[in-house]
Amino acid sequence: MTATQLDAQARQALTSAYAPYSRLRVGAAVQSTTGHIYCGCNVECASFPIGSCAERAAIAAAVLAEGPAVELVAVAICALDDTDTEQMIPPCGACRQLILELGPSAQVSFLGQGQVRLQMAIGSLLPQAFKLLR
Ligand code: THU
Repeated sequence: MTATQLDAQARQALTSAYAPYSRLRVGAAVQSTTGHIYCGCNVECASFPIGSCAERAAIAAAVLAEGPAVELVAVAICALDDTDTEQMIPPCGACRQLILELGPSAQVSFLGQGQVRLQMAIGSLLPQAFKLLR
């Protein structure tokens, strides 16, 4: 799976977003060590705090398919605002925490307009992360 294919899957995923409140449609695609990719979109709710992010929806799909041993190697995130303009959004703090837990070496890409693409390791996005000793 090339980065371009992962990006394309994230862009496709945002077309399913349910975001009537923020009007920011977000799509995410995650790739595991198996090479498979899983997608998610944001799903909002009139009770605002229970809405969910695209990244965590994609990760839930990956865990459902591959089980608790799943390991993420790459994540792509894209967003469209209410003028259909691509907005480059890095993942929120909660999503960073979960990406790190299931993909400690994952590369995270934020997609912008045209070919604009920023890629960072999750460890750089969440330094000194909280971890439980197991
Ligand atoms: N959102 C995501 O899907 N991922 C993020 O990392 C940040 C925010 C969504 C949540 C909400 O539906 C909308 O973007 C505005 O916050």
